Amino acid sequence: MSSTAIAHPNIALIKYWGKADERLSLPATDSLSLTLDIAPTRTTVTLDPGADQHVASWSGEPMTGRELERVSTFLDLVAERAGSRTRAVVETVNEIPTGAGLASSAAGFAALAAAASAAYGLALSPRDLSRLARRGSGSAARSVFGGLVQWHAGDDEGSFAEPIEAPGLELALVVAVLAAGRKAIGSREAMRRTVATSPFFGAWVASVPGELDAMRAAIARADLSAVGELAESNAMRMHATMLGAVPPVRYWNADTVAALDVVAQCRRDGIEAYATIDAGPNVKVLCRPEATTAVADRLRAAFADVDLLVSGSGPGVRILGPAA
Ligand code: PMV
Repeated sequence: MSSTAIAHPNIALIKYWGKADERLSLPATDSLSLTLDIAPTRTTVTLDPGADQHVASWSGEPMTGRELERVSTFLDLVAERAGSRTRAVVETVNEIPTGAGLASSAAGFAALAAAASAAYGLALSPRDLSRLARRGSGSAARSVFGGLVQWHAGDDEGSFAEPIEAPGLELALVVAVLAAGRKAIGSREAMRRTVATSPFFGAWVASVPGELDAMRAAIARADLSAVGELAESNAMRMHATMLGAVPPVRYWNADTVAALDVVAQCRRDGIEAYATIDAGPNVKVLCRPEATTAVADRLRAAFADVDLLVSGSGPGVRILGPAA
């Protein structure tokens, strides 16, 4: 049995940073994101009754080591739920540079959860698919849905994502790929260290619910300025928790700071633009769809030859159908 699924990355406007439970991948707080319409991951899972272990590849390159281990552990979870001992072959094609803070793991595990559950014959509701994707990578729970999405903290049963109505709010994102290489420290380890050592983590957990309420209200009244201001401030606070860790986790480089200056200058010049930054040096600029050209021009003027990706709001995960 074989099944293929496609999922898109998402970028959080209220970030997920820190787990309450590592094994179950339960977050310390709710988070809220925008699913993108660029850089999809397409994953095919084929059951292989003769095999004694799972096999996986990224764009034709065999996966090894910890990467393979992470995918295998996830496949074991799906197989166990299906009451199967059969191993699987996973083929993944990803259009986004991996490990650069562009949320490749979110799209990857959302697509893997959908393709694997279908291949193993599990018919999951979107909510249960989100709970399953969460086990692969927390932020993958959100890529199951399109548009604006909230992922709830809670226990295993209650921690799933769901889409948010946003009538009249059109969002776009310009991603400045300032460094496409692998990041120095993965988000898993960086979160662990922040939770264990940063004196600012408690303040983060205490402040997110209020930020989320304000974000939900701003979305409901289609107030892009408030959405942007809240998103930028939340991203700064997330990075502040990491700077307080021991040893500190710093994903920013000099270009990251320069890009924040470009965004601030855009605002002074009347272009509504707001920055957000994930577990990497790249800066993502939130704006109205009609402002993407102006924002891209400013970034290009500041960084010669910078790679820019422009995205609107994208769809949730889609299963392309099982093949025999
Ligand atoms: O689930 P992960 O390991 O991809 O963690 C994602 C963490 C951030 O991208 C930094 C924030 C977020 O909410 O997406």
